[in-house]
Formats: sequence, C-alpha cells, structure tokens
Amino acid sequence: MATDEGVVLETRGLTKHYGGVEALTGADFTIRRGEHVAIVGDNGAGKSTFVRNITGVERPTSGSILFEGQDVQFRAPIDSRNHGIETVYQNLALADHLDVPSNIFLGREAYYFRLGPLSWLNKRKMRREAERVLERTGIKIPDLTQPLMSMSGGQRQCVAISRAAGWGAKLIIMDEPTAALGIQETTRVETIIKGLKEQGIPVILISHNLRQVFKLVDRIVVFRRGRIVGSLDAKTTDGNAVVSLITGIDQGVHADASYI
Ligand SMILES: Nc1ncnc2c1ncn2[C@@H]1O[C@H](COP(=O)(O)OP(=O)(O)OP(=O)(O)O)[C@@H](O)[C@H]1O
Ligand SMILES: [Mg+2]
Repeated sequence: MATDEGVVLETRGLTKHYGGVEALTGADFTIRRGEHVAIVGDNGAGKSTFVRNITGVERPTSGSILFEGQDVQFRAPIDSRNHGIETVYQNLALADHLDVPSNIFLGREAYYFRLGPLSWLNKRKMRREAERVLERTGIKIPDLTQPLMSMSGGQRQCVAISRAAGWGAKLIIMDEPTAALGIQETTRVETIIKGLKEQGIPVILISHNLRQVFKLVDRIVVFRRGRIVGSLDAKTTDGNAVVSLITGIDQGVHADASYI
C-alpha cells in the first residue's frame, strides 16, 4: 500500500560513486500515485545512474529507497519488477536471439510445468498474451516469431515499451524511450504514456526533448552533475527556467521555479 500522501517511490540521499566519479550525489526524489515526472539534465548528469540504482541494476553507494512506504534493497532488476516497477532502459535490456513473446515474458515465462531442465514453456499462452499486450499498447510488429535481432531499433524499442506498459505495473520508468524513434513511433509512444496517465500509473520519463516533456508530465526534476537541482511544476514553469537549471546558467526569467 502507498503511504497516506500517496507516495509511490522515494529516495533519500541516494548516492552512487564509480571509483572517483561522483555520478549521483544525495538524490532526494519523490513520485506520487498517478504522477508523471520527467527527469532532465545534460549528458552525464546522472539520470541513467539514478535509474540503475533504483531498479536494482546497481547497488547505491549510500542512501535509501522506499517503495510504497517500505525500505527496499533491490539486488537485481527482477527484484524491482517483482515489486511492480517496470523499466525501459536506455541501452535496451532485450534478448536479441529470442522472439517478441519470449522478450515480453523475459523473467516471467509461462510454463506448463517447471522442474529444472524438464521445464516446458507454454509457448502458445505466451504468444497469445504477447499479442494482447501489444494490442493494448497499439504497437504493430509484423511478425512476432522473428528474433529481435532482425528488427529495427524502433521496433525493438516498441517491444521494450510494450513489455513495460503491458503488465499492470505500479511504476514505469522510461530512460529516453523515443531517442531512437521516428516521428510515427514517437507519437505512438507518447500516446502510450498519455494512456498510462489516464490509467493512473505513475511514470518517470527521462528525456532530452523538452517539448515532449512539457506535453506529457506534471513535474520536471532537473539533474546537474549528479545532483537534483530543481523540481518544477510543468504547468507553471517554462523552457527557460528548465534550461537555466540544466546548464546552471541563468536564462532570464525564472517563472515559478520551486527549488529543492
Ligand atoms: N559504469 C560506470 N563506470 C564509471 N563511470 C560511470 C559509469 N556509468 C556512468 N558513469 C559516469 O557517471 C556519470 C553519469 O552518467 P549517466 O549515464 O548517469 O548520465 P546520464 O545523465 O544518463 O547521461 P545521458 O543523457 O548521456 O544518458 C557520467 O560522468 C558517466 O561517465
Ligand atoms: Mg542516460
């Protein structure tokens, strides 16, 4: 259950150092039920590091993560998935040699029975479910039986997004989901994100595309050099205020920036 204030995920002082590199320092971040939050910042600002550390790809150097009010320590991505956090990673975590249904089911395969090497995958069920998941997201893949490696970058990205959006997640994190997509696929993904908003599913969207960010989210959190330097209401702020925070250089008027 979420806490009284509806906080789904909270990080306190989340910090990640790679040797001498301070990729993420003291991140205090909160996302509430139904809220869509963008994370923006220049290349190397620590956005993907933040994602990897809240989803269990990496272990933070220090700090804590609370999911639905509970202290959590995810040891692997499957731990966060089991809690209902679905993630589309910047460098796609898909299995190239497998087909679409297998990728959608990756880590939660359907079995007829499961007994070590004698396990028997229920391929038909996975295929049917995969079709249902793709239909819900409106994404068209010509041939589901083709391995992922024969697909375009855009199609692969669509499979990853369907996988994240199709499981009734409690929180969806997307790290630059449209960076490699064409106009049509980008529109499709933006429609999926709007659909998630209507369903009340909270989303953390990492994007360099401020136009997209203003169109889709309620709040914009800015990272600079591994630190959160601002949290702005998307309705009352403007591009200049966001760019000022991203670069650390004043662009002029600061609108209603509320700084952390
Ligand atoms: N595995 C790693 N080992 C060492 N340094 C790393 C590692 N991963 C990231 N870094 C460093 O941490 C910093 C933050 O990187 P990160 O990938 O989080 O940036 P980002 O905000 O996602 O950037 P982009 O917009 O380019 O994706 C960078 O200085 C990067 O070089
Ligand atoms: Mg990144």
